[in-house]
Amino acid sequence: MRSARPSLRPTKKHFPIPSVAGMNAPLVATDLVQTYGEGPTATHALAGVSLTVAPGESLAIMGPSGSGKTTLLHCLAGVIRPTSGSVTWQGSDLAALSDRRRTALRRSDFGFVFQSGQLLPELPAVENAALPLMLAGTSRAEATRAAAAWLGHLGLAGMENRRPGELSGGQAQRVAIARALAGAPGVVFADEPTGALDQATGAEVLSVLTSATRSTGAALVVVTHDAGVARHCSRTVTMRDGRVTGEYVAEAAR
Ligand SMILES: Nc1ncnc2c1ncn2[C@@H]1O[C@H](COP(=O)(O)OP(=O)(O)OP(=O)(O)O)[C@@H](O)[C@H]1O
Ligand SMILES: [Mg+2]
Repeated sequence: MRSARPSLRPTKKHFPIPSVAGMNAPLVATDLVQTYGEGPTATHALAGVSLTVAPGESLAIMGPSGSGKTTLLHCLAGVIRPTSGSVTWQGSDLAALSDRRRTALRRSDFGFVFQSGQLLPELPAVENAALPLMLAGTSRAEATRAAAAWLGHLGLAGMENRRPGELSGGQAQRVAIARALAGAPGVVFADEPTGALDQATGAEVLSVLTSATRSTGAALVVVTHDAGVARHCSRTVTMRDGRVTGEYVAEAAR
């Protein structure tokens, strides 16, 4: 049986939720084109996408396999440099930054949740969740404290020292969410975070992800095949063949 959903607004006394610095600027993508290969065999993974992610909003990206969702996410997050077009975050053009500076910015300002299998199997949950913070230069003690606090927020108190193999799929994804949020990112990027879970567990994890992200003021960009995701997000964008084909704003958009 699954445990009850944790309260995501715990008292500050127990688990202070870090506030997000500098969250007034949106993430802006303009005319993104990403082409793989050349000539007649070239794949136009993105064929001109313009998109703005407002501070604190939750944006779902949906579309068939191969429509360019992951490519878009990677461009927005500065993981890949688009063939043309630009992404600006906090006023900085990501492509204009050096690789080193862009990597540093990714570590300090962005959090990532992947489908599955991205936790290090030999590390306990708390160390997995603390790792990006330590890579960004936070002391081990401080990183561990923040990671443990987030594990507590997400209903994993008492499981801090379990390794990923000792957790259920849903619990492991909560560790991944704690890892993404521990560094107080401005934007959390999630690529099919529930893709490896059964529907009920996936819905629960998505609910945890959106609530936890919202509680920090971070924006969320989530790629999903699950139509139910729209219930959890303030906006949904659909893609096909590298283009945005539709946009839906939730009635109760926050
Ligand atoms: N590194 C690459 N080299 C060549 N082609 C690529 C590369 N990455 C992606 N593509 C191609 O770009 C297109 C978009 O891929 P992308 O991974 O963004 O799709 P997706 O919408 O995330 O699909 P899925 O739902 O299957 O994850 C596809 O045709 C894919 O084959
Ligand atoms: Mg993909």
